Amino acid sequence: MKVDGKHIRPIWLSQDLKVVKVIDQRLLPHRFVVADLKNVDDVIKAIKETYVRGAPLIGVTAAYGVYLAALNAKDKPISNDFLIKECKRIKFGRPTAINLAWAVDKVLHETLKPETSSEKIKAALNEAERIVETEVENCRKIGENGLNLIAEISRKKGNQTVNILTHCNAGWLACVEYGTATAPIYAAFEKGIDIHVWVDETRPLNQGSRLTAWELGKHGVKHTVIVDNAGGHLMQHGMVDIVIVGSDRTTRTGDVANKIGTYLKALAAMDNNIPFYVALPSSTFDWDLKDGLKEIPIEMRDPDEIRYVQGFDRGAIKSVLIPPETSPAANFAFDVTPARLVTGFIIENGICRATEQDIMRLFPESKSH
Ligand code: MRU
Repeated sequence: MKVDGKHIRPIWLSQDLKVVKVIDQRLLPHRFVVADLKNVDDVIKAIKETYVRGAPLIGVTAAYGVYLAALNAKDKPISNDFLIKECKRIKFGRPTAINLAWAVDKVLHETLKPETSSEKIKAALNEAERIVETEVENCRKIGENGLNLIAEISRKKGNQTVNILTHCNAGWLACVEYGTATAPIYAAFEKGIDIHVWVDETRPLNQGSRLTAWELGKHGVKHTVIVDNAGGHLMQHGMVDIVIVGSDRTTRTGDVANKIGTYLKALAAMDNNIPFYVALPSSTFDWDLKDGLKEIPIEMRDPDEIRYVQGFDRGAIKSVLIPPETSPAANFAFDVTPARLVTGFIIENGICRATEQDIMRLFPESKSH
């Protein structure tokens, strides 16, 4: 996507193909810093500490991690056992987004096949790049499919502003291009539909107020940052036409894990008869799971992310303590929205209702899982 007229992605490979370059998202919007990931340890750190975040981008970074494992393997010929061990380490980066394990398994599968080290490295790179470009194309299609929903609301409102509420950052920073929840928003904007986005700040790491607001602003999309608790009030007063969020893992039955607070938005949307859509690529479905509440692992992050708030003050990024020094905090990073609260899914191959039957209509090959 474009930032100040320049095309940029949150991840790319250096020209000599030895270093994975990522935007360090911890510092946005106040600093634009590119970090170099040179080995598997760097990749794990970047995933754990949220230099990169968002399910599809975590997957893509992990895919490049497998490539770096092969590229930097000391023992030649590269042993498959070594690659399998490195992949296990990468998979432990973060627990909730299924894209991580999905991408690692895909690249590993291709890398184990060839005999020679150079062929293994080439296979890892090819598969990682294939995943990148597939995710880009999938997000583009999610945009095309979701556009119809926004266009329909605009038509019903006689071309008045369509107000969309989103939670966290499911934008191009969380993917590679377009985003998932933001893809229909960008598509509607390009079509000239009058839209406005309510951006939940998304405590504690503020992916909404830091990242979604930055992305939308750079693109020229009208938006307003709101506190996480404002959504219900706006919905009660007719100020939200549709909610679109992303997902970190969705079960075959349609239960959705996403950033903490998503569930409360879905409840409020249901109570106010407002469509609640989840935009996701097929890589975010976990075909093995049926019960999201019982089966999706919810990441617990460092309580200091809640206790301290990061901001920009007189030219520097600073962290300040909010609660009493001695008060404990609990940092649940995600929650699960049950399928019954989801109006539908916007996926690369279409729109469907949040039922196993309807999901399987779009993914008949996954029926047998
Ligand atoms: O903790 P994060 O920033 O990785 O959480 C990200 C989210 O919850 C996103 O909504 C989700 O990954 C979908 S991204 C297209």
